[in-house]
Amino acid sequence: MDGKKITVYVTGSIAAYKAVYLLRLLIKAGAEVRVVMTTAATRFVTPLTFQTLAQHHVLTDADWDQTGVVHVETAQWGDLNVVVPASADFIAKAATGIADSMATTTFLAAPAPKLVVPAMNDGMWNNPATQRNLTQLRQDGIHTLSPDSGFLAEGYAAKGRMPEPEVIATEIEKLFTKEQDWQGKRVLITAGGTREDLDPVRYLSNRSSGKMGYELARAAQAHGAEVTLISANVTLPTPPGVKLVRVRTAQDLAIQLQTLFPQTDVLLMAAAVSDFRPAQVVPQKIKKITEDAHLTLELEANPDLLKLVATQKKPGQLVVGFAAETEDLKQNAARKLANKKADFIILNDVGNPQIGFNADDNQVTIIGANGFETQTPVESKSAIAERILAVLKKTFN
Ligand code: CTP
Repeated sequence: MDGKKITVYVTGSIAAYKAVYLLRLLIKAGAEVRVVMTTAATRFVTPLTFQTLAQHHVLTDADWDQTGVVHVETAQWGDLNVVVPASADFIAKAATGIADSMATTTFLAAPAPKLVVPAMNDGMWNNPATQRNLTQLRQDGIHTLSPDSGFLAEGYAAKGRMPEPEVIATEIEKLFTKEQDWQGKRVLITAGGTREDLDPVRYLSNRSSGKMGYELARAAQAHGAEVTLISANVTLPTPPGVKLVRVRTAQDLAIQLQTLFPQTDVLLMAAAVSDFRPAQVVPQKIKKITEDAHLTLELEANPDLLKLVATQKKPGQLVVGFAAETEDLKQNAARKLANKKADFIILNDVGNPQIGFNADDNQVTIIGANGFETQTPVESKSAIAERILAVLKKTFN
């Protein structure tokens, strides 16, 4: 952590006293630390305690009267922003972008990566509002740590206890090292599902939510890669720092791939591309005319985009396909790997509703053309994204 600049936000929770110890650990590890406190936090620990350790003025609500925009200057300063402990109140405000104190305003204005470490009573933790707010933070690209189960200040054991400072320091270390290992790599990711228009109001599509592709984009960006995300009809928030290109149809996607693939080191083809499109797009809405009308649609094939780009692959470029299967999983994945000339296929069992389309969790088998094969546990799509990147990284020179 040598020379890293960390802004620590301390909010109103009894666990604030543990932030003092964390601060010592960070400084011992070579980091430079600045502290911002909410007024509620100052009732648990005094700013002087943090100031003495950090050897820097601690920002509180008392600083609003200072000349200059101290919160903006502090927001710009850090390489990482860590909220420790994060109260339910702070999490709610951060999830909605409320800036009503020195801490929330500085946090909102800070561009560098963010880590939120919740600590609260189990009732607050289990409240759906808190869980909803944390999901929102994660969707906004903010890292979060889960509280431990253990003895709470209330005098009983439950979930809500802040992880120990050593654990938090290790997570912070990981966030810094994470940013290094994909630096210089240009990563192109496709996500979502293409839509093939039938008439001005109808289209053919599929159930892909785009979550896996978006998690891959977020993870690759966090590892320092330069990431472009071609998004087909996804409503998720754009991961911070990722360049977004929106497409609708397979043909739009084909055009973008032709332009962007030559400047790509790693292509992750997570989008569900429609294999067929209506042979004609009717300019007016198709009418049913009579109650018992039948309609036969004529479809024509879209090109296999993955296969197309894989055949144009230059040495050093890595092409990764995805196989969404409901039966004969391994055989189908092996066939696609060979047929599409991909370097890896990520096999996904979409027949299982717990891990398929639109689910938050996933389980995949990563299969390499070089004979590599590994199955991940069932875990969050962000954890799966990390595993996929770790496997691909091993192929870099
Ligand atoms: N793919 C593609 N172009 C298509 C169809 C699929 O580039 N026209 C890509 C997908 O993005 C994915 C991989 O190929 O990375 C496998 O997609 P999938 O839909 O599972 O396979 P298909 O090739 O459509 O094969 P099948 O219909 O037999 O399952």
